[in-house]
Amino acid sequence: MAHRASTRYFSTALHFYQNRQLELYASKEAKRLTLRQLVFFGRSMSEERLIKSANYVRTELPVRIAHRLRDLQRLPYIVVTQEGVAKVYELYWSAFEKFRQYPPITTLAENEKFCEFLHTLLHEHSPVIPNLSLGLSLSSPYLSPDDLDAFMRRMLVSRISRRVLAEHHIALSENFAGRGQETSGEPHVGIIFTGLNIKRSVEHCAKLLAEGPLSMAHSSGRCPNVLVDGHTDTAFAYIREHLEYIIFELLKNSMHATSLKHKDAVTLPPVQVTIVAGDHDVGIRISDQGGGLRDEYNRPVRASDIFSFSHVRNAGRLDDSRLGALRNASKSDQGVRGTVGEQVGRWQKANGDDGDDLSINPVEVLHPRIGIGLPMSYIFATYFGGTLDLVSLDGWGTDVYLRLPKLGTNLEGIEV
Ligand code: COI
Repeated sequence: MAHRASTRYFSTALHFYQNRQLELYASKEAKRLTLRQLVFFGRSMSEERLIKSANYVRTELPVRIAHRLRDLQRLPYIVVTQEGVAKVYELYWSAFEKFRQYPPITTLAENEKFCEFLHTLLHEHSPVIPNLSLGLSLSSPYLSPDDLDAFMRRMLVSRISRRVLAEHHIALSENFAGRGQETSGEPHVGIIFTGLNIKRSVEHCAKLLAEGPLSMAHSSGRCPNVLVDGHTDTAFAYIREHLEYIIFELLKNSMHATSLKHKDAVTLPPVQVTIVAGDHDVGIRISDQGGGLRDEYNRPVRASDIFSFSHVRNAGRLDDSRLGALRNASKSDQGVRGTVGEQVGRWQKANGDDGDDLSINPVEVLHPRIGIGLPMSYIFATYFGGTLDLVSLDGWGTDVYLRLPKLGTNLEGIEV
């Protein structure tokens, strides 16, 4: 009895202590960065700077996680009990505790260990998005659309920011040690490509959708050509993974809509991509003739509602087939991120390298139809101050306008 009582006392005390720690971290402001700062800091790397970077990540990530843990704690109880939400809460608590207790990094050998630690966490957190999306879809009837969308935006922006910091530090450390990711010889500092050629990224994504193991031809038999015009030699400093995530999703939607709308036509109208280099930003317009934006029930859908996670604005959010796909994705440890190239590599490995098993549709495997491609693209686009707008000409097609800042001087979104 005495033992039981003391255990209870202990766990209550521990709980209060942990919450006090959470309050302490959540009361600190995130130290937001610009893309330019990430590049400048990483450009002339030395042992001392690398260790400084490690300790910045070590102390910054728990602050950012603490803000989101507080957000989760403020949700109505019914939301926290939904499938998926508790899993995310536990992952974040555990990561918060690990970071909080991580000792300062003082040597390169300690930094190696720290990078392994980050690697493990990045992997463990890969099912966060489908879990969160499942839990919050199920909660949609209990939250106002504004509250739901603001909460999801904070969760996702913050997650992108944490992964950027962790992945950038790992890449800087690997480069410093003379190892590094496959970059096809393109100049880069950490995960930021300093001369990222937009046309090349568009063509890379179009090729994967047309003929790679991700081929759309596997699912629909045909896919439209993608033509690129405008300032086709435009290059700027950006995170390639973010740019290619957005372009891949937008092209996939355009190509899919075009092949559906013109399924009986002899030739498919092309998807036209126009690149424009402005003084402050780069613009990318993707125009298709896929009939305009439609929801799962083939009803025209307002462009402003397509990014919403609420069923009030976007009826398909509570669609059974989507919830089923989310349940599957939330169990897989693959998650839904990584560069398109990395995902293809992973998929090929998992499927015997040749990627020719037609019984599996790779587009669905890698980018399962869980309805987060467009909202995620929107969040990636706006993370460093860009914009993403969709204009639908119902019955004809859709124009998407993506603008990304060219100078890298915008701070990360305030939600980090
Ligand atoms: C996430 O992916 O949600 C993270 O917070 C990753 C970070 C712990 C490295």
